[in-house]
Amino acid sequence: MSRVALVTGGSRGIGAAISQALKAAGHTVAATYAGNDEAAAKFTEETGIKTYKWNVADYDSSKAGIAQVEADLGPIEIVVANAGITRDAPFHKMTPEQWHQVIDTNLTGVFNTIHPIWPGMRERKFGRIVVISSINGQKGQFAQVNYAATKAGDLGIVKSLAQEGARAGITANAICPGYIGTDMVMAVPEKVRESIIAQIPAGRLGEPEEIARCVTFLTADDAGFINGSTISANGAQFFV
Ligand code: CAA
Repeated sequence: MSRVALVTGGSRGIGAAISQALKAAGHTVAATYAGNDEAAAKFTEETGIKTYKWNVADYDSSKAGIAQVEADLGPIEIVVANAGITRDAPFHKMTPEQWHQVIDTNLTGVFNTIHPIWPGMRERKFGRIVVISSINGQKGQFAQVNYAATKAGDLGIVKSLAQEGARAGITANAICPGYIGTDMVMAVPEKVRESIIAQIPAGRLGEPEEIARCVTFLTADDAGFINGSTISANGAQFFV
């Protein structure tokens, strides 16, 4: 069945692949972005997917943006909380600002995205929620105390939401991508990146489409009994 899907951070990187996969699965997709107008316009031109600009770290902006998407496209039945940032630094150098930026966007941003959509999903007795966590939320990572905390927090969010939504036909699941060939990973210093790739048994970075595949699986109408789970897609780098 065709549904309305919202993908935060949906015009670049993993999010762009998710938006396109959901469109290919027959859904009407709204992709949000925070700042890069040029990339968003190009994405819409190339894919026909509508983009909306708001800061997921701000509750009121998220609520207003979601209301606009629903006015334009109809009630949101699939939500993919994907927007995220890194502010990497060894802990002794990490500033309170770096801590708060990452917490506000990656963790509070997930609350801000799902909370305004949740009452409608409960009323309509259907919802598919996917949160994009990370391998580094499972294993921790040097220089990512802030990021790892948010990505571990995502797992707590979906396990709790799964229990609250189960009787209302709502599922909430997490995906933990490993290292994927996006701008975020390419921003890691080359020498560090090479040492990371050397730790991946697959011998390569993942592709954004390999994460999108997990999303179309979890958001299908007949995925209703998969709830509160975590899919790891990391080329065998880490097992929970
Ligand atoms: N394990 C152990 N030691 C490490 C290390 C690691 N993974 N990485 C760096 N170090 C060491 C360095 O060798 C160096 O040691 P010395 O002082 O003895 O030389 C020290 O830690 C780093 O000190 P610097 O003062 O040079 O550090 P810096 O302030 O310049 O910060 C950095 C550098 C930010 C840590 C940089 O190395 C970096 O970006 N590392 C990558 C972190 C990472 O993996 N981020 C993941 C991004 S991708 C992502 O997040 C997506 C996802 O979900 C998977």
